[in-house]
Amino acid sequence: MNKERKRILTGDRPTGPLHLGHFAGSLQNRVKLQKEYETFIIVADVQTLSTNFDHPEHLPADVWQVTLDNLSAGLDPEIVNIFIQSMVPQIAELTVFFSMFITVNRLRHNPTIKTEAGQHGFEENMTYGFLGYPVSQAADILFCRADLVPVGEDQLPVVEVSRFTARRFNELYGTVFPEPEGLKSETARLVGLDGKAKMSKSLGNCIYLRDSTEEVRKKLMSAVTDPARIHKDDPGHPEICTIFSYHQAFNREESPDIEERCRKGTIGCVACKKRMIQVIEEILDPIRERRIRFEKPGLIEEILKTGTEAACIEGSRTMQLVRGAMHTDYFDRRKS
Ligand code: TRP
Ligand code: SF4
Repeated sequence: MNKERKRILTGDRPTGPLHLGHFAGSLQNRVKLQKEYETFIIVADVQTLSTNFDHPEHLPADVWQVTLDNLSAGLDPEIVNIFIQSMVPQIAELTVFFSMFITVNRLRHNPTIKTEAGQHGFEENMTYGFLGYPVSQAADILFCRADLVPVGEDQLPVVEVSRFTARRFNELYGTVFPEPEGLKSETARLVGLDGKAKMSKSLGNCIYLRDSTEEVRKKLMSAVTDPARIHKDDPGHPEICTIFSYHQAFNREESPDIEERCRKGTIGCVACKKRMIQVIEEILDPIRERRIRFEKPGLIEEILKTGTEAACIEGSRTMQLVRGAMHTDYFDRRKS
């Protein structure tokens, strides 16, 4: 049952279209690593319900959208398995077993849980499922015995719970799981178009992978820059400018030059933004082309079905090991 290649598991909550923050934070890494690692991409519909349990009607469209975004970003369905979390029953089984030995305090003190609880106003009263989503995410990662988990920075404390879960399980019952490693992308979190700390759908400050050329142009032209630059030759402060942070993320080679010219007041914000538009369009154009190909009727469904089948096969292998280790393989035990 040894794996031929090391394995990646990562994915997204289907809550709407993916944006450039996702692209910089994790999609780019996935695409880069897909040939080197056997890759499983989870569309985490159950995790979406940890906050959106009262709106399950959005799931079907959002699951399709997230899958299409991943494929458009460059994941190759011939070599990666994209699957739906709730359709892999072994993930639910593992969640229950893991929840027996992960303490409530560990979850309560998790930095990501604390931050997100604050964002959703759950501090005083949160559901069992929300508090426990890192346990369920440990099951997402460990059901295929993944080695590597590429994620955005915010998610590292959650991956830490998976590492602990693997370690603790192995200590308690015998070694079944590798200790999965979190891999943070080189690009720091992307700031929003409004200059807020984070590109986020709920803040309405994103460039989406599916945005048209016209939408990208409008959004970037009205993005916040250094307010001190009223005239074109006023010296600027790139370190506080949204557009400059995008140059650093997506236009690395040119960014030192832009920084210098901004400080000296030899580049105007309009020209600087226009250059940024070009850079983003170069990223989005191939994504748009692929999207058109994957929008063929029935194709997403077929890709999700194939990926989910592969995930279930891997999940049953893992459960055999888990049940053996936990003495819950009752009928196999009696035979031998
Ligand atoms: N929690 C992740 C997010 O909000 C999504 C996710 C669910 C995930 N299961 C995962 C990420 C497993 C990595 C591995 O973006
Ligand atoms: Fe920002 Fe560019 Fe204007 Fe400088 S020139 S403030 S980096 S948009």
